[in-house]
Amino acid sequence: MSTSNASSTAPMESHPCAAQAVRMDRMYRLQRHFYDLTRKFYLLGRDDLLTKMNVQAGQTVLEVGCGTGRNLAILARRHPDVRFWGLDASTEMLKTAAATMERKKISERVVLRQALAEELDPEGLFGLARPFDTIFFSYSLSMIPTWEQAVEKAISSLAPQGHLHIVDFCDQMGLPAPLRWMIKRWLALFGVHHKPELVAALERMAGEGKCELQVKYLYGRYAFRADVSLSNARP
Ligand SMILES: C[S@@+](CC[C@H](N)C(=O)[O-])C[C@H]1O[C@@H](n2cnc3c(N)ncnc32)[C@H](O)[C@@H]1O
Repeated sequence: MSTSNASSTAPMESHPCAAQAVRMDRMYRLQRHFYDLTRKFYLLGRDDLLTKMNVQAGQTVLEVGCGTGRNLAILARRHPDVRFWGLDASTEMLKTAAATMERKKISERVVLRQALAEELDPEGLFGLARPFDTIFFSYSLSMIPTWEQAVEKAISSLAPQGHLHIVDFCDQMGLPAPLRWMIKRWLALFGVHHKPELVAALERMAGEGKCELQVKYLYGRYAFRADVSLSNARP
């Protein structure tokens, strides 16, 4: 298995969401160099998700919006007999991710591709004949305006017994109003917006028996985690 040369793949100009790839490259061209150092203080709940993720030997795991590859690198070190894939809109972020995998000597087990979440296709993009066992989004859906398509693609790319995990910003309703106001405005500078419709859509799916859902609110609703399981869903 090989790690793609992220820098050789240009953003897809023709796709209707291609502007997002250009935006992300612009945003992360410089930030990628200090991204991991700064984000560890405020992308909360990521490590708990990685620890609790039920990943079994021989399974396949994809992170959508993998950024610098920080999460995939942690998982790959922890699960040497699992295969990992990452996709991201930004070729800039993927340059850092590819370098991280090389440095940690795990590039053979982590495949990276430049693509949009909204056009996820396990076969077309990764040459995979079967869907993923686990797909996760870590602080990426809050940056994706067309998040419904991204979630739909993820669910349709999951095995019948598959798991989808999301950790992201919430509404901070458990925090003091001035702090909430500051966080909201600060996140907006980065094009990050909490999407209450996301959890509502997952709850609807669970209500219709399409999945099992657990939602956990973290740190005064600073963030939330949604664990979606297709395995016990009614046929
Ligand atoms: C805040 S970063 C999170 C990175 C990583 N998941 C983490 O936890 O550190 C969001 C990532 O989502 C990517 N992204 C934004 N829109 C995307 C889209 N439509 N498709 C794929 N990736 C996207 C960005 O390029 C960026 O790398």
